[in-house]
Formats: sequence, structure tokens, C-alpha cells
Amino acid sequence: MTGTHRKVLEVLNGKTLVPPPIWLMRQAGRYLPEYRETRASAGSFLELCYTPDLAVEVTLQPIRRYGFDAAILFSDILVIPDALQRNVRFEEGHGPRMDPIDEDGIAELSAEGVIGHLAPVFETVSRLRRQLPEETTLLGFCGAPWTVATYMIAGRGTPDQAPARLFAYRHPKAFDQLLAFLADISADYLVAQIDAGADAVQIFDSWAGVLGEEEFARYAVEPVRRMIASVRARRPSARIIAFAKGAGLFLKDYRRLTGADAIGLDWSVPLSFAAELQKDGPIQGNLDPMRVVAGGAAMESAIDRILDVLGQGPLIFNLGHGITPDADPENVAALVARVRGRR
Ligand code: CP3
Repeated sequence: MTGTHRKVLEVLNGKTLVPPPIWLMRQAGRYLPEYRETRASAGSFLELCYTPDLAVEVTLQPIRRYGFDAAILFSDILVIPDALQRNVRFEEGHGPRMDPIDEDGIAELSAEGVIGHLAPVFETVSRLRRQLPEETTLLGFCGAPWTVATYMIAGRGTPDQAPARLFAYRHPKAFDQLLAFLADISADYLVAQIDAGADAVQIFDSWAGVLGEEEFARYAVEPVRRMIASVRARRPSARIIAFAKGAGLFLKDYRRLTGADAIGLDWSVPLSFAAELQKDGPIQGNLDPMRVVAGGAAMESAIDRILDVLGQGPLIFNLGHGITPDADPENVAALVARVRGRR
């Protein structure tokens, strides 16, 4: 009954579709005037995430406008630290802020009440599954432990996540403990999203690219492997996309080592390497979001190259990272038309 013609799900199951299905990371966001309007009425950003009426509305906005093949739950990776009572705030023009955690704070972390705090998110997912077109795949998501931990340690975004890297070198045991804790609670969070109606989930490791070889294995691969194993032990048919931004050559073994069904690729991944990775299973990506801002030939030529090199294998067309607030909605319409127009 369900899922029969959900194209993103079909590709996650290993099928090649021509043209490939498409959705965009951050497809609900500030580049859309209707998002800015709903956002203004919500008060705080977290209220938008925790009010199912509003979160459903902004999730559906890009689906109505472009008919993307997948909708992604509107929320944020930082609802996990929020549920852990780290005093998360989103300040206008400053990005996220929270209380920085130390060794004592890590020792005191408790999973109690976390899933309950996130109940509005599950309500949003179940309403979305009822309201979305039957053929639209619904994606849930969470942050990878490393990326979430970088914000928890620094208490804010930084250009290179130096505070978390330094903390990990100085306090490796406490840091391992933090990542294992986040892996377990995030696995519970994904299972609850799947149970509420998510067809598949994506794990965002947006800061994987600042890690050295040893650290990538320990902080990017191991916690994501642990999380995926935990989800699969309970929901064997779960479909999972893992996006390790900036991971470069480490992507070679990333799918096998983590157990992800599909891997997301940023725009720095050469298409020849992407084609190699595609031999092992579905890939997702990898247009530079700045090409969507530029539009015209800069956007079109890169779309065509991705389709030429990767379009005959299991591909979910996407950007290499989130769409930016300065993207013109008309360029997004042109992007979707071009991906769908080719045979
Ligand atoms: O993709 C989607 O449309 C779903 C929604 C989504 C948001 N954040 C909404 C959001 C998703 C999947 C995320 C993930 C997220 N959040 C990541 C991983 C992916 C990535 O982009 O790297 C990270 C690192 C965060 C943390 C975060 N949230 C930051 C650093 C910021 C501030 C920077 C910014 O763009 O403003 C946010 C805020 C945020 N999350 C916004 C949106 C639409 C903008 C806030 C606003 O509307 O005022």
C-alpha cells in the first residue's frame, strides 16, 4: 500500500531511475518568501520546530512550489542538545548558541525525558505523512554525533570546530563517552521518527571534513556505525542516508564501515570518484549551492555533467550542501525543470 512509487525510496533500495528523483538540503528555508513569512509569525526558531502546525506548513512549502520527490521534516539537528537542556538559542544574525559542555557536564548527561521533549517533532512527522502526496518520500533526520558534539563543546558555530578538536585531544575518554551517548539517543530519535511515518532518514555530519585520518575513524565512522546498527537492530528495513561533508577520500570505505544505504556527496567530490562510489550503491548530491545562486550557464552546465556521469546509476539529485538564503526561487524552478527534462 505505502511506498510503492516513492522514487527517493526506490533509489535507496538500489534502483536506477532516469531522470533521477530530486530534493534539496534546506529546501524549506529563508530563500522562500513564504518561509520568511511563517518564520516571522513563529517567534523563535525553536518554536517553529516545536509547533507542528507551523513545522508542517514550512515542510510543505517547497513541495507545493516545486513538487520535489522528497520532503524533509522541518526541524534542526540542535533539538537534541535542546532536549538535553543545554539552553539552545538561535540568535538573529549570530547562528546557534548553547551552554558549552565540559567533562563534568558529559558525566551528568541523562537520556531521561529526551524523547518526550521531542514529541512535537514526531507529531509533525505523522501529520506530514498524512498530508503529503502519496508519491512523495518523507525524510526524517538527525545530526551525526561528531557534528552535534562540535556545537555542544564550543557552545556555538566556529569556522573550523577547533574547540571540539582540542577537547577530543585533551579529554579523549570523555569525548568518546559524549559521542556514544549522542549515538544512542540519536538512534532512539530516528527510530521514533520512522515509527511516526518517516520513509527514510538522513544523518548530517556537516563537520566531518575537519577530521584527520585517525579522528575520522573514531569520531565520524564509529559513532555513525553504532547509531545505524542500533536503528537496524530495531527497524531492519530502515533506509538511511549518511552525509559526511568534506570527507574526501575517506568516503571510499564510509558506506561499508557505517552500514548506510546511501551516501551524500558534497561538491568537492570529483564526479569520477562519485561514479566509483556509485558502483557500491546509491549516492546523493552534489551540485554546489553557489551555482544555484549564480543560475544560468554556471548552474546548467554542472547539472548536465552530474547527469551525464552519474545519471545512469542509482542517484538522488541534490546539492552538495544546503541551499543558501540568497538563492533565487526562480533558479530552483529552473534546476528542477532541467533535472527532470532530460532523458
Ligand atoms: O533541510 C531542510 O529543509 C530541513 C531543515 C533543516 C534545518 N537545519 C533548518 C534550519 C535541517 C536538515 C537542518 C540541519 C542542520 N542544522 C545542520 C546540518 C546540515 C547543514 O546545513 O550543515 C546544521 C549544522 C544545523 C545547525 C544550524 N541550524 C545552524 C548552524 C544554523 C544557523 C545558520 C543559518 O543557516 O541560519 C541553523 C538554523 C536553521 N536551521 C535555519 C533553518 C531553516 C535558519 C534559521 C532561521 O530561519 O532563522
